[in-house]
Order: sequence, then C-alpha cells, then structure tokens
Amino acid sequence: MTVWGKTASETYHRRATGMLRGVYRLIAADIPVRPGAVVVDVGTGPGLLLHRMTGTGGVLHGVDPSPDMVAIARAAADAEGLAERLSFATGSAEDLPFPDASVDLLVSSLSLHHWVDHAKAAAEARRVLRPGGRLLAYDFRFVRMGAAAAAMRAEFGQVTRTPVRLAFARLAAS
Ligand SMILES: C[S@@+](CC[C@H](N)C(=O)[O-])C[C@H]1O[C@@H](n2cnc3c(N)ncnc32)[C@H](O)[C@@H]1O
Repeated sequence: MTVWGKTASETYHRRATGMLRGVYRLIAADIPVRPGAVVVDVGTGPGLLLHRMTGTGGVLHGVDPSPDMVAIARAAADAEGLAERLSFATGSAEDLPFPDASVDLLVSSLSLHHWVDHAKAAAEARRVLRPGGRLLAYDFRFVRMGAAAAAMRAEFGQVTRTPVRLAFARLAAS
C-alpha cells in the first residue's frame, strides 16, 4: 500500500476543500445514519465527508493509513470547531482499529480504488460490523469495483452496485 506523505496530503486537503464540497454533500445526503450509530469513514483523508455528517447524531470516526492525513483531519476538525464530534486514527480498510462487532456503518468516499487487498478488507468489514451493520463505499463511476464487489459478496452474501448521479457509484454490502 502506498501511504500518502505530508505534501500529497496537504495538496489533497487544499484541492478537496475547494473542489469536492458538492461531492461530500451528495454522499452525506445518501447515507442514512440513526442517532447513536457508530460510523467509521474508511480512508477518510482530511475527514471532510464526516464534517457533513455531524448533524446526524452518529458517533463519527475516521481512519486513514497516512499519519499525515490523520494529522490534517484532526487539525481540520479543530479549525471547524468539530474536534469534540469527530475522532481520527491511523488504520486501513485491511486493518481497522476497532473491536469485533463494534461498528454500525462503514462508509468510504473516493478511497476504494486505493484499497489493495479486497479479500482482507471484506473480512475486516465483516469482523467490525455488528449484526445488521452495513458498508457503503462511494467512488467514481469509472472505477472498476468488480474485485471489491466479489470479495464483499464472499463475506456478506448481499452486495449491490448503484449509480449515484452521473459521476459516482455506491457499493453496498450488508
Ligand atoms: C482520494 S483520497 C479520499 C479521501 C477522502 N475519503 C475524501 O473523500 O476526500 C484517498 C484516501 O484513501 C486512503 N487510502 C489509501 N489506501 C487505503 C487503504 N488500503 N485503506 C483505507 N484507506 C486508504 C489514502 O490515504 C487517502 O487518504
């Protein structure tokens, strides 16, 4: 796995802040969160999707394999007065820093195409999700999701791939 360094993380944060606001709004609006639900954003980057989800009443965590991204996510949350609402940790789709059966909803935006080992990621998703929990992974529509979908299907049985507006697709497993 390529871990994003400081410069790449800072550049992404700057660009995402300027260009992806509408994308985060669109994805956040598509994610049903019940108050109190434990939500983990996998590959959270600067954590900007979670900023859009603070009104949901969910207990919101972000994980990213890049310690530089995690530092940026913490600073960005602090700058928006959201530090108390959001927590961030290093971790990856293949190695989630959460106990078994402790998460209600795994979400992800524009990160799936970076995941390396889909079988491991699917097994991790299955391990941390509570019974009835869901994974919703959003990425660009042109991203090939076949390998991820096959791995999720092997773990969960039920997987759907749904277009979200023109540019995006949602992989859902439960
Ligand atoms: C294009 S950025 C998207 C960040 C954020 N989700 C967003 O929508 O702005 C991709 C992120 O995926 C992370 N990433 C790379 N490999 C990963 C993996 N195996 N598991 C989880 N996240 C990963 C990167 O560190 C990076 O922060």
